[in-house]
Amino acid sequence: MSAESNRILVLHGPNLNLTGFREPDIYGKQPLEEIDELIQSEAAKLGVEARILQSNHEGVLIDTIQEHRRWADGIIINPGGLTHYSISLRDALVSVRLPMIEVHLSNVHAREEFRRHSVIAPVALGQIAGFGGYGYVLAMMALVRFQKEVV
Ligand code: DQA
Repeated sequence: MSAESNRILVLHGPNLNLTGFREPDIYGKQPLEEIDELIQSEAAKLGVEARILQSNHEGVLIDTIQEHRRWADGIIINPGGLTHYSISLRDALVSVRLPMIEVHLSNVHAREEFRRHSVIAPVALGQIAGFGGYGYVLAMMALVRFQKEVV
């Protein structure tokens, strides 16, 4: 594990490209492009280089994780619906041995029962849920500061 996270891979899973349009009462009105701009502007302030990718395909997410295993110091991932069942995604995240934080726009614990269970959370440093796009900023701060100052 690296002491500092200067290069962070940010992944948005299936359907997150529709953020702002889909169920805005749950996921917010902010389009994903705006969330990505927020991530990049906060990354610049933290001295972090962020690469961001959204995909609706599990295999693309897995390929991207594997391809970035030497580039990235940490991973922030909102796995969307894959959160609740994708063992392959979890295995990929474990395989690359990078510190990882799980983010959700909505508070998954205040919704349907099936959303409370994550197969990713047990292998993450932690989970941030319910703060919309700001959750990615919190996750970046945690990767950079928590790792450096607390661990
Ligand atoms: C989500 C929560 C998931 O349960 C859901 O399938 C999503 C979005 C969130 O960001 O709140 O697609 O990951």
